[in-house]
Amino acid sequence: MKNVYLTGFMGTGKTTLGEILSRKLGREFVEMDRVIEAREGKKITDIFAERGERYFRNREQEFLKELAAKTDLVVSCGGGLICHPGNLTLLKASGRIFSLKASSSTIYERIKKYTHRPLLNVVDPLKRIEELLVKREPYYQQADYAINTEQISPQEAADKIIAILKAEKTVA
Ligand code: S3P
Repeated sequence: MKNVYLTGFMGTGKTTLGEILSRKLGREFVEMDRVIEAREGKKITDIFAERGERYFRNREQEFLKELAAKTDLVVSCGGGLICHPGNLTLLKASGRIFSLKASSSTIYERIKKYTHRPLLNVVDPLKRIEELLVKREPYYQQADYAINTEQISPQEAADKIIAILKAEKTVA
């Protein structure tokens, strides 16, 4: 099976859905941010604060190149990955891309209790979410499929993705 990549904005449910989907498919799950944190021995917020976003994006791309050389993975990508030069080509060449969607208010409700996302640790996170969503939409639109996670459970979203993968014969 080609890899299955979950992309979409922070708080759209990539990690929760990815865990469920990988279990249902019997495939290995990779949460990119978790692996980058383990390799760097630091939280994402500290990587951004100490080394800067550029450093993080380089580590992210290096790791994506490793994943793109493999098969049979379910990968939860960081929300900004698809927007950075070269990454879309790597994703397209090695897998099927699903973009998860939710409205800015839903995203805000989901993320507001957390502080582990450096890009949203700002005075007005909702405004930042709205700005970034507009800027990133052209990139998320490049995914093969969009799944709206607003009204459905992660289980239902996983079943939708499996139905798509079966219809296109990516999985049996
Ligand atoms: C980012 C999303 C985060 C993480 C980093 C940057 C982004 O991942 O990679 O904080 O630019 O949208 P999640 O989407 O898994 O929260």
